[in-house]
Order: sequence, then C-alpha cells, then structure tokens
Amino acid sequence: MSLLDVTGLAVRSQSGPLVRDVSFSLQPGERLGVIGESGSGKSLTSLAVTGLLPDSLVASGSVLLDGHQVVGARDSELRPLRGPVAQIVFQEPLTALDPLMRVGRQIAEPLRRHLGLRGAELRSAVAAALDEVSLAEPRIARAYPHELSGGQRQRVAIAIALAARPQLLIADEPTTALDVTVQDAVLTLVERLVAERGMALLFISHDLAVVSRMVDRIVVLREGLVVEEGAVAQVLRNPVEPYTRMLVDSARALDAFLDAKEAGA
Ligand SMILES: Nc1ncnc2c1ncn2[C@@H]1O[C@H](COP(=O)(O)OP(=O)(O)OP(=O)(O)O)[C@@H](O)[C@H]1O
Ligand SMILES: [Mg+2]
Repeated sequence: MSLLDVTGLAVRSQSGPLVRDVSFSLQPGERLGVIGESGSGKSLTSLAVTGLLPDSLVASGSVLLDGHQVVGARDSELRPLRGPVAQIVFQEPLTALDPLMRVGRQIAEPLRRHLGLRGAELRSAVAAALDEVSLAEPRIARAYPHELSGGQRQRVAIAIALAARPQLLIADEPTTALDVTVQDAVLTLVERLVAERGMALLFISHDLAVVSRMVDRIVVLREGLVVEEGAVAQVLRNPVEPYTRMLVDSARALDAFLDAKEAGA
C-alpha cells in the first residue's frame, strides 16, 4: 500500500475552484517534488493532504494517508495521524512556532502527546531533538522564537515536525526565506534526516535546482492541475509543458546538479 495516495483532489472556495484535479502517490521512503508557478495550488495541496485547509475552503476527491481517508475527516480523526504520519514544515518558520512559548517546550509538546514521554525522559528527548538539528546549546531550548535567527528558527520547526517520528515529511518551500548559505545548511540537514530515518519526503518548491537535489520524482502543477510527472532527470531534461520548459530554461544551475546526482547514483 502507498503511504500517500492522492486521487482527483480538488479544493474550492466560495468563488470557485482553486485546485482542480491533482493525483499522485508516494511510497514509504520515496522523495517527491511538487513544483509550479506561484498560485498553482502547491500549498493548498499540502494542506489538503494533512487536513489543515482553512474552514472557508472545501476539499473533494480522495487523500489516503497511510490508509486513512483525510478528505472529509473530522479534526479528532486527523489529530492522531499528524504527529506520526505527516508533518509540515512551513515556508516561514515563525508561522509554525508559538511566539509566547519557549522553544524547548514547543519541542516537548509532540514528544509528550504522541510518544507519551514524561519527566527526565522527556527532557533528554528534547535535548536529543535539538542536537539532531545542530542546536545543542542549552540557551536555545530556553529561548523564545524571536530570540533566534531565521536559520535557527527553521531548524527548530524541523525538530518539532520530526519529534513524533513521522513517516512522511512535507516541506513547503522550507528555505525560501533564508540566506543562501543558511538555505544550503538546512537542505543538507533535511536530506540527512530523511535518509537516516528512511522517511518519505513531499518537497514543495519553485526552485528547480533545489528540487532536483532533494527528490527523485517530480509533479508539475499549473492552475490546480498536474501537467507533468516523472523522474527528475526525465522531466527536467525533456520538459514537455511550456511552463516546465520555461522553468528549465531559467534554471541555469540545473545541469550541474543533475550531473552530480547521476555521478552519485
Ligand atoms: N484561504 C484561501 N482562500 C481563498 N483562496 C485561496 C486561499 N488560499 C489560497 N488561495 C488561492 O488558491 C490558489 C492556490 O494557492 P496556493 O497557496 O496553493 O499557491 P502556491 O502554488 O502555493 O503558490 P506560491 O508558490 O506563491 O506559494 C491561489 O490562487 C490563491 O490565491
Ligand atoms: Mg505556497
């Protein structure tokens, strides 16, 4: 069984369709990229997959997450799935963090809720989670989000997302807001954690160089539809859709990444 099976997913608001027909599936441990121009429905797709769409939007179609139907499910049915099955890392880490809660407590929360850790065991799991994202200094656990740099905040968001040991990590433009060197460090971290834990990755980005580095297969969205799908090298070497071709033409660094990927395969 697939870890994630999306079939005919649509999302609409009162004024009309926003996502029209999206289908793809993801096997355990597989890394899939979703690309597409701004407004093509990437973020709404990732929110629909985890049942986190705002109340004003309605999803239809089918999203089977580890065999559980997400479309139309109640929040109480979805909550138990969110920690262990799918987690989202948002574009702007501040949206994922509680400004009024110390970082250590925010990491402790999913460890307590989903893994049932308490007391000394919980404290050492929080320290280990911070260590895993290279934030081992004790002052970080005691800090509030506004006391950290953008790169540190994104590492904290990743630690929270991964705390309950999900099988699937959903990353929606996780590094867009970061400086290039910090971006590279965060991507390297995500790559390492995904590989070490054998997690599946749904990686959303408009940056082809980043996507080709992070995933094996790509889905291209345009105006809420899947317009292209295939292995990274296949889609990016022989783009069929005019939109994909335009992206490829503008991504001058792409060949270097593809060559490096093939040399490493
Ligand atoms: N809460 C909402 N209510 C109404 N329309 C929305 C809402 N959220 C998003 N949309 C619309 O749905 C469409 C898809 O939005 P989405 O956020 O999925 O785009 P995206 O592909 O993630 O774009 P970007 O690359 O800019 O992040 C857009 O036209 C957007 O304006
Ligand atoms: Mg988006």
